[in-house]
Amino acid sequence: MLSDKDLDIILRQARTHNGFQAKPVSDVTLQAVYDLMRNGPTSANCSPARLLFLKSPEAKKRLEPALSEGNRQKTLEAPVTAVIGYDLKFYEKLPRLFPHNLEARTWFEGKPQVIETTAFRNSSLQGAYFIIAARALGLDVGAMSGFDNAKVDAEFWPDGTVKSNFLCNIGYGDPSKLFPRSPRMSFDEACKIL
Ligand SMILES: Cc1cc2nc3c(=O)[nH]c(=O)nc-3n(C[C@H](O)[C@H](O)[C@H](O)COP(=O)(O)O)c2cc1C
Repeated sequence: MLSDKDLDIILRQARTHNGFQAKPVSDVTLQAVYDLMRNGPTSANCSPARLLFLKSPEAKKRLEPALSEGNRQKTLEAPVTAVIGYDLKFYEKLPRLFPHNLEARTWFEGKPQVIETTAFRNSSLQGAYFIIAARALGLDVGAMSGFDNAKVDAEFWPDGTVKSNFLCNIGYGDPSKLFPRSPRMSFDEACKIL
């Protein structure tokens, strides 16, 4: 079991942050987050998530036209914005990533609906691993889906093989910018043991 303090850090007390302290996030820290998150499970170990870490003002400017009004300012101000995308050619890496079944590539090749569903599902999972990994390493995160995916895809992945899933602002949070914590559903509302 993790300690109570650790559980608070990864989920119980962790919050979705809207503002960050003026404290940079090093490239080494971003590499450490990826090294941790990549261990989370995906189907056939397909690992479709592709991440862009936007740090420079120039990179943020490229993202700006795609952001919804409510997400614009806080994203431009965040030390880093991660674009979490999914690679529609993920299956080409399966001979290396899933070597105990060399047929795995054929489960996807020429099947666009299976590719899309698998890539979206597993990149969403990897996005969640990303949030937990970042928190576990002392960072704060603010996930966002309020943006124009087509604009992000055209700007950052113009060849069409990678599609954006969601964005995450990352840094060291400013608690004064938090919204009040919203309630969660009880076990009985959301779960059934059959
Ligand atoms: C995939 C995803 C997309 C979200 N999109 C937005 C968004 O576009 N803008 C925003 O301000 N918050 C966004 N949120 C934040 C949620 O509203 C927030 O995580 C939720 O209310 C729980 O807040 P808490 O973590 O502070 O308890 C998003 C969260 C997730 C996980």
